[in-house]
Amino acid sequence: MKKWRFLLGYASETGQSKSIAQGIVDIASEQHKICADLFELDEVDKQFKLEEESVMVIITSSTGDGEPPSNASKFWRKIRREKKSDLLSHMKYTVLGLGDTNYSNFCNCGRVLDRRFEELGASRFYPSAWADDAVGLDLTIEPWLQGLWPALKETLAKLNTSSESSIDNLSQSIDQINFNQEIKPTVERQLSSCNKLKSDEDSISYSSSLAELTTLTLPPKPTHSLSVKLIESSEESNQVLDGSQYHAAKLTRRECLTHDVAIKPVISMELQLSEEEFLFEAGDAIKLVCANDENEVDLLLKRLECLDKASHRLEISISPDNTKKSTKIPAYIPPMCSLRYALTNCIDIRSSPRKNLLRLFVDCTTDDDEKRRLEELCSREGSEIYIKYILEEHLSILDILNHFPSCKPDVAMLIEFLSSLMPRFYSICSSPLDDARSIKFVYSVFNFAASNGRTYERFGVCTNWLNKIDIGTKVLIQTRISQHFRLPLTLDTPLIMIGPGTGVAPFVGFLDHLYLSSQSISGFDVNNLNTWLFYGCRHREHDFLFQEQLQMYQQINVLKHLFIAASREEGYPFRYVQDQLKINGQELANLICNRNAIIFVCGDIKTMVRDVRETIANILREHTEITNIDEYMKSLETSRRYLLDIWS
Ligand SMILES: Cc1cc2nc3c(=O)[nH]c(=O)nc-3n(C[C@H](O)[C@H](O)[C@H](O)COP(=O)(O)OP(=O)(O)OC[C@H]3O[C@@H](n4cnc5c(N)ncnc54)[C@H](O)[C@@H]3O)c2cc1C
Ligand SMILES: Cc1cc2nc3c(=O)[nH]c(=O)nc-3n(C[C@H](O)[C@H](O)[C@H](O)COP(=O)(O)O)c2cc1C
Repeated sequence: MKKWRFLLGYASETGQSKSIAQGIVDIASEQHKICADLFELDEVDKQFKLEEESVMVIITSSTGDGEPPSNASKFWRKIRREKKSDLLSHMKYTVLGLGDTNYSNFCNCGRVLDRRFEELGASRFYPSAWADDAVGLDLTIEPWLQGLWPALKETLAKLNTSSESSIDNLSQSIDQINFNQEIKPTVERQLSSCNKLKSDEDSISYSSSLAELTTLTLPPKPTHSLSVKLIESSEESNQVLDGSQYHAAKLTRRECLTHDVAIKPVISMELQLSEEEFLFEAGDAIKLVCANDENEVDLLLKRLECLDKASHRLEISISPDNTKKSTKIPAYIPPMCSLRYALTNCIDIRSSPRKNLLRLFVDCTTDDDEKRRLEELCSREGSEIYIKYILEEHLSILDILNHFPSCKPDVAMLIEFLSSLMPRFYSICSSPLDDARSIKFVYSVFNFAASNGRTYERFGVCTNWLNKIDIGTKVLIQTRISQHFRLPLTLDTPLIMIGPGTGVAPFVGFLDHLYLSSQSISGFDVNNLNTWLFYGCRHREHDFLFQEQLQMYQQINVLKHLFIAASREEGYPFRYVQDQLKINGQELANLICNRNAIIFVCGDIKTMVRDVRETIANILREHTEITNIDEYMKSLETSRRYLLDIWS
């Protein structure tokens, strides 16, 4: 059976590719009896060698401006620099790229790897696919996965033609699997389901469209690779995360930048670093380690009936039954920590549970109606309701457990199957010329009401934590260096900066840097600058961020043009930044076409990013002779004159 294996390489920045890859490992072994050896792409030459692999599936996202995630940089370099054009001629492969069409280089990392594998002689055994986070990754991933298995089996079968018995084994197991996959609820169960849970409207706990279905296709039940025990210990279980790859920075200042009546408060923070070597430039961001809300952790512990074991020590080892070569003890949980520490600092308890976890929940649920509904939510037939009621409403693990009271999973299951709590990014809005050991950034406070299936009010994980920590607290940060979102070397290159809301942050950093350069560099003449800022808020009197600072830059000629949009201010003619762009269309078109201007777009509003791009394209259409605007816009992007830094 060993020959029924393939290499599954992933690269992920925020964990999605990783969790999809882990799901594939489970489906491969449980449903298809194929072994998927899972590795980060950067484990190349340590854990796997491309020269020795016959079949490879790559799952990768893109980050930055179409760049590879940080755990694929070595692989990326290796593949791009490789000179032997037949290096991979022995290999069959396919790529699943994750991306977001709001970014100009959609799925660039996946696409480049896909092309490069072909150039190096590898042949695709199944079409590569590009999943779009803007519309929902599953829209592409689910059908792609369905087709992957037959293609993979055919490929592996061809490679193994000499081993007839393996093929027999495989087809036998496939037959069994197809049978096992079908779940046929009894008539009684269906009826009781209708009786107890039926209401006029569909909800997380009832859907009329699925209640009549007698057959559901469930995902395979994930196997436990880890053994997680809770040890009552008199010793303190207080080992904390290894922060050696981070810099410790002290919170020295916190200030609310918005008026009390502002709909979304925005807070500014200042961190002081103790080490000299923290290098950053205007345009960079920080990656910041945060923690879950203590009350939410308590609620979860209570719901899991283990509040009394919160201080027990977690002992995690590889299960004796584990068959996966790639199984590792999670590095994000320190070896001697308590259950409470792990749930507070290491594990993402807020994200919506994946279908594989719901599948496990089915077996921990005693009430037949709840069991059936959980089956529906994780089934292939229930994809739409899973997206509608769980993903789109951002239901957390605690919400799900609250909706299904008879579901009593063991806390060990959550430790094994939930992902790690990811650090969050914040754009730096200061310049190292001001103080190389001080970082400033701003964040908006997220507040989500208890509605639409959410069973408790909540705040954004990191922003809530930032709101609560005391001045003087040490936080762990890393620099996220921008490859291209940087000030140009030439002073007189026109800068068109478009940043509504907190999207203005890097531009404040740019302007700060220009201002301080003018103070400290001889010959730096602010009159040579050609800086344009398009800023958007709701109401100029409520949430005009950095108002004084920007107006000061304008007065001293560092900022040449400042245009404000205010979306909720009655009678004000410019609602969105696009309105201000349009009014200035002629001048902007001239700057872009004749003066080599660089356009920077930053912010958290995905629709804004699309609308701004369309507006710029329309401006060029109206005010220039360019005939192929689409091509011209693409050329702006490839020549790094149209740069994005956006987040959701
Ligand atoms: C390169 C980069 C730079 C960034 N710079 C900044 C910056 O300068 N300032 C800034 O404020 N942010 C910035 N961000 C975003 C920031 O990293 C965080 O995503 C943001 O602060 C929210 O984090 P959180 O943990 O508080 O919220 P989370 O707990 O992660 O939850 C917030 C997220 O949940 C989602 N959500 C939407 N509706 C609901 C709902 N009803 N219930 C639950 N969740 C919902 C939203 O997508 C939202 O992003 C940046 C991101 C990147 C990638
Ligand atoms: C800072 C940042 C930059 C991104 N840049 C791109 C990009 O250039 N092209 C793209 O298609 N997607 C881009 N994305 C979208 C991600 O690739 C997408 O959300 C993906 O699902 C993330 O998967 P991961 O969690 O495995 O990293 C970016 C996302 C972030 C947060």
